[in-house]
Amino acid sequence: MAQYADLKRAGSNMVCLCPFHSEKTPSCTVFVARQSFYCFGCGAGGDVISLVRRAEGLEYVEALEYLGKRVGIAVVDSDERRPRYDKNRLYEMNKAAARFYRDVLFSRPEGEPGRAYARSRELSDAVVKHFGIGFAPDSYNALSDYLKNLGYTEEEMISCFLAKRSDRGRLYDIFRNRLMFPILDVAGNVIAFSGRRIDAVKDVKYLNSADTPVFFKRKNLFALRFAKNSCADNLILCEGQMDTIALHAAGFENSVATLGTALTPDHARLLTKYTKKVTLCYDSDEAGVRATQKAIRLLGEVGLETAVLQVTGAKDPDEFIKKYGRDAFARLLGETRSKFRFSLDSILSKYDMKQADDRVRALDEICRMLAGVYSASERDVYTREIAEELGVSPESIKEDTDRLIARARRERKKAESEDARRRIAGIGDRVNPDYISNAGAASTEDQLLGLLLLYEEHRKTVLAHPDLLSEEDFFTAFGKKIFRLILQGEKNGEYSEAALGETLTVEEASRLEALKMKRVPLRHNGGEVFASYCAALREEKKKKELESDKVSADDLAGYFAGLNKKINEKEKTEG
Ligand code: UTP
Ligand code: MN
Repeated sequence: MAQYADLKRAGSNMVCLCPFHSEKTPSCTVFVARQSFYCFGCGAGGDVISLVRRAEGLEYVEALEYLGKRVGIAVVDSDERRPRYDKNRLYEMNKAAARFYRDVLFSRPEGEPGRAYARSRELSDAVVKHFGIGFAPDSYNALSDYLKNLGYTEEEMISCFLAKRSDRGRLYDIFRNRLMFPILDVAGNVIAFSGRRIDAVKDVKYLNSADTPVFFKRKNLFALRFAKNSCADNLILCEGQMDTIALHAAGFENSVATLGTALTPDHARLLTKYTKKVTLCYDSDEAGVRATQKAIRLLGEVGLETAVLQVTGAKDPDEFIKKYGRDAFARLLGETRSKFRFSLDSILSKYDMKQADDRVRALDEICRMLAGVYSASERDVYTREIAEELGVSPESIKEDTDRLIARARRERKKAESEDARRRIAGIGDRVNPDYISNAGAASTEDQLLGLLLLYEEHRKTVLAHPDLLSEEDFFTAFGKKIFRLILQGEKNGEYSEAALGETLTVEEASRLEALKMKRVPLRHNGGEVFASYCAALREEKKKKELESDKVSADDLAGYFAGLNKKINEKEKTEG
């Protein structure tokens, strides 16, 4: 955990800011004796393997390998059923695909539409080579054939989002008739592709690789490989890769772009590894302004300094440089606004500050903005500046802002407890979607699973007395599954949480950690308590069965009552 967060001692355990959600007070606890962690804020939890899976976005076996590498143990995968990809082969295959696309663009007749499009976008040969740009021909399976001949399997191609199987089972290329941008990680591996359509047909403009065994779009930035070596004191963040390419071509090699997604907290964390300051360079349209606001928030949360560059007289940086040249862009870079100035300007631009009621509304919005500034001293500086600029007293701004902060704090508290309540009730529960349909029984299941996970004694009891508790007694599919897995492990004499974790998703592992967390502080966890929960679960089942009988009886009664009424009415009118 020390690798992902700063740990502070708290009694016999440690606490830290949760690496899996944004927070300002630590709610993540590391239980030293049990070698596990649990976040009371977002519910992430589990053992060291779950931690690595979550933090690095790895599969179970990959997390083992990762940990093995760190302590010098080789991990041998004995599980043949799981599709396992050799990542090095996937990197090689992606590289071969990039080579194929490039060859088509450079030297094949079917590359002509790609060449024409690259020309129309003013991409020079040098830039095309630098970024490894290529062209996917308008062909059903040219790439997959090529890769097949190199010895790659259909499964490998499908796993990397290069090919798909049609309904009839035939393999076909996903990228067709598109200018292809390979996505490279910082080590230089080809991990994915983005393909731009070259004509105006109504197809998505950019088609990007989905997440694959070697690509997580939430965690990768286009051109970071070049930008990280640019020695600039800040990175320029663009919305699209064409903007980044234009900037690199003009000599601004410290620019990066997200890939087919808005900025994520993962991106923000990634950026902190390479820079202290980010210059946001989004489109000048309304969507760009909204994206800028969101990026300011995310970058602020990870402590990155942020400046905002405004592209004027053009839609985006690519268009701007083509129109006005690199010097003009360098000028824009010298005129960036602080994030505070950006927010203030976007508010002021909406109001006519000569009108009294507009001024009031603007001030109200400004106080809201200030209330979102975390640091009190930063707030103070801004407050003075605004007061001076708008000719109001700093005290009145501060009073309004403080009131808003207090209200937001109350609302957050309420939302947190509401959130916890929903979690407990299982509303929107992805791990255990059946929870809500019978919350009483499901909560009993939770108690039983917690006890079984914590104590061998109970596992042995269930194994010896199948009549006490069986899979059929569980209501939820999640409960059934976990119970079955625990029992299976115990039966084979190889029960361990690690073995259990292997078959679970990280969310499921977190849930089990939460169930244990609920049981462990209770004093009564012995056989009697266990037996009483078993009985309660069976009781629930009986109740449910009775209920369904009753429901049908009620329905019938209702039906007959209706029928009688009709007959009566008929008799009345006739008689
Ligand atoms: P834009 O629509 O601003 O495109 O989308 P652009 O970068 O200016 O591209 P050109 O100049 O028209 O070629 C910004 C980014 O949003 C993602 C891409 O990453 C794109 O660069 N996007 C856009 C998609 O992923 N899919 C789309 O269909 C459109
Ligand atoms: Mn553009």
